[in-house]
Amino acid sequence: MLSYPRSAHYDPEFVRANMMGPNAMKTLEELSGYLRLKPGMRVLDLGCGMGLTSIFLAKEFGVTVFATDLWISATDNYSRFKSMGLEDRIIPIHAEAHDLPFAEAYFDAIINIDAYHYFGYEADYLDKHLAPLVKRGGQIGVAVPGFVEEYGEKIPADISEYVKPEYHFHSCDWWQNLWTKSPLVKVTTCRSMDCCTEAWSDWLATDNPHAVTDRDMIKAEGGRYFNLVGLVADRV
Ligand SMILES: C[S@@+](CC[C@H](N)C(=O)[O-])C[C@H]1O[C@@H](n2cnc3c(N)ncnc32)[C@H](O)[C@@H]1O
Repeated sequence: MLSYPRSAHYDPEFVRANMMGPNAMKTLEELSGYLRLKPGMRVLDLGCGMGLTSIFLAKEFGVTVFATDLWISATDNYSRFKSMGLEDRIIPIHAEAHDLPFAEAYFDAIINIDAYHYFGYEADYLDKHLAPLVKRGGQIGVAVPGFVEEYGEKIPADISEYVKPEYHFHSCDWWQNLWTKSPLVKVTTCRSMDCCTEAWSDWLATDNPHAVTDRDMIKAEGGRYFNLVGLVADRV
């Protein structure tokens, strides 16, 4: 077990009940080591799910968070934020990643945990939809499930039943190459995240029905292929 002192402050039952994949709080805690977050900053948490990372950002860094998601309603997230007394610091928004209702250069930072593979693989996504929303000198930080090596369409046979090419699991190099093409950002970090194994086991230990079906996938994967790719860039 690695040490995640900030994530350890949160009620494990609450965290388990609101997980939607590999432990997002621990993932963000590790990623935040590469981010320059300061109190009062305005941060977009895109694909925030049930808001675990939005809560973490508001409480740990004193930033104002725009907690934006597609599958989880703003009303659902608002009641969660209100129950924690965070309704003045986290603004819940229901929006699609290609139609974000924000002004250009509005954010000091954008973070995206376990959601970028649903839309960010598109060649023009970063430049068309995401980078313009960040101020110059601001940051974009993403943690996305992927592979240790790049397989393209040729997913290894022992996991091809579970992971399809259309899930857009890629290697660090694949993501770095994609972002390096952008004139709007400069990649500062691209690495395999240390929390990968622990974040997945925390998720599998929940009784979420999706976690229960993911247990067979992780058994087949056997610690050989999966990665959590951490990608951070400055808006230039
Ligand atoms: C696996 S969940 C992860 C949620 C959260 N970040 C976490 O780690 O707990 C993926 C999230 O991505 C969001 N998402 C997927 N496609 C999206 C899109 N096109 N626009 C906005 N959000 C999207 C979903 O609504 C979902 O909550």
